[in-house]
Amino acid sequence: MSFLELMLKRESCRAYDGSRNVSREDLLKIVEAGRLSPSGCNAQPWKFLVVDEEDALAKMRDALVTEDAGTGAPWGDQVNAFIAIVETPAKVMPGVLTHYKDSQRFAQGDIGMAAMNMCYQAEELGLSTCPIGLNEQKKMEKNFGIPEGREVRLVLAVGYAAEETEPREKIRKPLEEVCCFNEWK
Ligand SMILES: Cc1cc2nc3c(=O)[nH]c(=O)nc-3n(C[C@H](O)[C@H](O)[C@H](O)COP(=O)(O)O)c2cc1C
Repeated sequence: MSFLELMLKRESCRAYDGSRNVSREDLLKIVEAGRLSPSGCNAQPWKFLVVDEEDALAKMRDALVTEDAGTGAPWGDQVNAFIAIVETPAKVMPGVLTHYKDSQRFAQGDIGMAAMNMCYQAEELGLSTCPIGLNEQKKMEKNFGIPEGREVRLVLAVGYAAEETEPREKIRKPLEEVCCFNEWK
């Protein structure tokens, strides 16, 4: 499969087959895709908390936001694996600090890069994913022993899709709106 084909196939999945578990082997391959990702100053400001056991899954569902059907994970009941990406302190080069006066400036972008690689790795393994941006930080800390203030930036739901369907059409802004050459238009 070409990379374009992989990109067109990947989509956020919100209906999982709860009877199929994701193997540890596959989960580790997905984490490896995150671990190998680039980051500003190679700071690697992440820790991947993999959740695949019943008690921990219940804790994760408890820490996700479920009321609003448009965001969060009201569909999380059938998900048998989650990977939370927790931001860790980034050690960046002194020049970056002098320039931006904020050592955390790159970290969220870094985590986005890692998350994307992880989603594509999952897709290549025949698994589906959905990034979940909304969570209850305090519950994450309490339920998993995450140190206070270590933000859970993103949780990835990982699993087998309930149904094999044709990929949905991608709803994206038109190229002319998001791209210009050589000057701002
Ligand atoms: C940072 C981020 C946070 C997201 N949070 C949620 C979420 O909380 N719940 C959800 O169902 N989808 C979430 N999504 C999925 C987006 O809604 C989805 O990527 C977007 O609509 C494009 O659709 P596609 O992924 O199927 O191509 C999130 C995606 C990203 C990148």
